[in-house]
Amino acid sequence: MANYKYPFTTANKVPTVQERRKYLFALEKLPLEERRAVLGKYYDDWVHNGYEEHCIRNGYVGHITLAEEIHARIPDTSKRILDCASGNGFLGEQLLKKHGFTNLDALDMSQGCLDYTRGKNVYTNYICAALGPDRLPIDDDAYDGIGLTAGCGAGHVQPDCLPEWIRITKPGGLIMFVVQEKYLDGEHYDENYCNGALDAILHKMAAEGQVEFLEKKRLFYLKNQTDKSKNEYSYMFVLRVM
Ligand SMILES: C[S@@+](CC[C@H](N)C(=O)[O-])C[C@H]1O[C@@H](n2cnc3c(N)ncnc32)[C@H](O)[C@@H]1O
Repeated sequence: MANYKYPFTTANKVPTVQERRKYLFALEKLPLEERRAVLGKYYDDWVHNGYEEHCIRNGYVGHITLAEEIHARIPDTSKRILDCASGNGFLGEQLLKKHGFTNLDALDMSQGCLDYTRGKNVYTNYICAALGPDRLPIDDDAYDGIGLTAGCGAGHVQPDCLPEWIRITKPGGLIMFVVQEKYLDGEHYDENYCNGALDAILHKMAAEGQVEFLEKKRLFYLKNQTDKSKNEYSYMFVLRVM
């Protein structure tokens, strides 16, 4: 991490999106543990300095489409849902304000993001933890559903968190997460997602009887109202915990 400098906001300068992106991709060269440490600080800063405006400007709809899919599969809005990599709270807001879910918790490794979302009064519990192989501070079978959007690839959440997701989800509960197409098709390289790597992991877990692999569905991720060439897609994966 020696040559790595965070693009922190200062009194004189807010980093541009290009600068933030450059640092984000530089992160991929770091070992996973270091990446995770750096990424938390990166979002501590960005969430307070333009994250939402950036997403809205670019036509981000990942939270809207995933919330619709969650509600379609979990019609009972009193069910307990964990918004993973909750960031600024986009997904939780959709689930509460558009669909009426009332039992939502937030999990993110950035304390700054969790603090930011507190003002929105969307979540009951705020869990500061890194998704990965390590045990989360959450009881077994705690949730009816897990949702995650905009948090996979590029040093973000990796499939090594799946065993913990399964542990904290009730039998019969759903894990619903969205991965940008560019990580699955290798346009942006992430060895744990691209060229069928993620699918292979999920099929193996299904074959072992840990989950039922219910669906893989292409969804809009960025929907540009004026320039369709700027549209981006993602895939939603749906697993039922056995
Ligand atoms: C691009 S933001 C997404 C926020 C929100 N889900 C949305 O739809 O806009 C990515 C979030 O993932 C979080 N994150 C990345 N890797 C993580 C990990 N391993 N464990 C927990 N949170 C992680 C970051 O802290 C950040 O808040």
